[in-house]
Amino acid sequence: MKVAAETAVGTSICAILAEDVFAMAVQHAFEADSSKASTHAAFGLDGLHGEAAKKKMFFGSATSEDRIISDIPYRTALVKECGIIVPEYEMKWDIMRPSATTYNFADADFMINFARQNGLAVRGHTLCWHRALPSWFASTVNSRNAAQFLTEHIATVCGRYKGRIHSWDVVNEAIEPTDRQTNGLRNSPWFQLLGESYIETAFRAAHQADPAAILVYNEYGVEFDDTIRTDAIVNLLRRLKARNVPLHALGVQGHIRAADKAKFAANMQRFRTFLREVATLGLSIIITELDCDDTGLASSITTRDEGVGGMYGDYCSVVMNEPAVIGIITWGLTDKYTALNSTNPRSDRLPQRPLPLDANMVRKNAWYALEYWFKNTMQRPRQTITSVAEERVAPIQRLRCIPNTQQSECEIQFTLERSEDVLLRLVDVRGQDVQILAQARFEAGEHRFMLNYAAFPIGTYLCILQSPSFLVSEKILLQK
Ligand code: XIL
Repeated sequence: MKVAAETAVGTSICAILAEDVFAMAVQHAFEADSSKASTHAAFGLDGLHGEAAKKKMFFGSATSEDRIISDIPYRTALVKECGIIVPEYEMKWDIMRPSATTYNFADADFMINFARQNGLAVRGHTLCWHRALPSWFASTVNSRNAAQFLTEHIATVCGRYKGRIHSWDVVNEAIEPTDRQTNGLRNSPWFQLLGESYIETAFRAAHQADPAAILVYNEYGVEFDDTIRTDAIVNLLRRLKARNVPLHALGVQGHIRAADKAKFAANMQRFRTFLREVATLGLSIIITELDCDDTGLASSITTRDEGVGGMYGDYCSVVMNEPAVIGIITWGLTDKYTALNSTNPRSDRLPQRPLPLDANMVRKNAWYALEYWFKNTMQRPRQTITSVAEERVAPIQRLRCIPNTQQSECEIQFTLERSEDVLLRLVDVRGQDVQILAQARFEAGEHRFMLNYAAFPIGTYLCILQSPSFLVSEKILLQK
């Protein structure tokens, strides 16, 4: 899919937020029934990333191109809640490498441009993994050319997105003690072809191509009492650090299960100790794929939301109290798109409810658990997302709203660089749609609308212009 160029001027939704919040709070002081909270609610400042950022942490989620394109309420929630996104599929080898000699950048480009246009940082996932390998891999890659394939892939991908990726999952899931290999390493294709050295090779190649990015070793299964596994992970990290390999963080995937509440509680202290050990190696920690499987819980929605939310709370009580943990990413934002329905369906066939928002983008217990912990955790020393807030990339679609109080009319103008399917709407301070102004395909060029607001209560509104590749907004103060 083609994406818009990124060289433009204008105001992104988030860029206006910081400067507006004060003005809007002042204005709402004069409006009897509008609280500051509802002002925030409409304009995204009370999304989870907004809370996380107050502690110099970040919050984000995995997402994908098709969902961003097709689902406007979802995309709106994504931009509102997240400061960072991670492509669930678009940067894996099976998508990026249609053949041994070619690259498909279109999908990853879309994700990165969407993120830049909406002021979101991006995680790169994943440069070296035993899964999601393309079908040509097994017959083409051998022990003589494997190092070359790995370094060339990393140099090409990291080189292309250099400076635009917050953190790379350089190596994913390299430990599996049950495979009975040296040092508890997984008997993956990369290990079979290159031995343990592939891990170091991958990190060095990534650092060379993208020196400013945070380089992450990403792993699962560290929350429970499997000390053979966690010891193998800590030892791997220790060996890499001892060899001065450019490694900056551990990614803890955080795929947990609500029915394991008691098991988790019994192992909390060990999980804390594991995180401390990692921190002591000088590494940061990112929770990279948090979700909470609800299989094993009764079918009632209340039971499941309380069970899942409780588990998020228990999990956060450990990870948020570890200062080395700098951010949390959930594996999806809404239950609508959780991978768990296909990877681990419930026996009653009901859709799982593992994520912070339900299928209608309504916040659930899990959302409130995260919010509580972001509010109550200690401030981290430094925000690692520099692209958010300070450095929002302005979109090319300029949106302007010019009210004429005499006539109770407001002229809305926007300029498109190319033909786009566009939704133009007006929302109130609670984020409710007041009016859909347009929903159609528009040609490149300037477009104008006249909104008559004589029948609307006076106050602040947000005009939102969205297309599959952008979302911009402008605050309007409608007075008479
Ligand atoms: C998963 C996707 O969510 C699924 O849709 C797909 O079928 C398999 O991959 N660890 C990871 C992620 O690092 O990339 C995986 O994502 C989940 C486990």
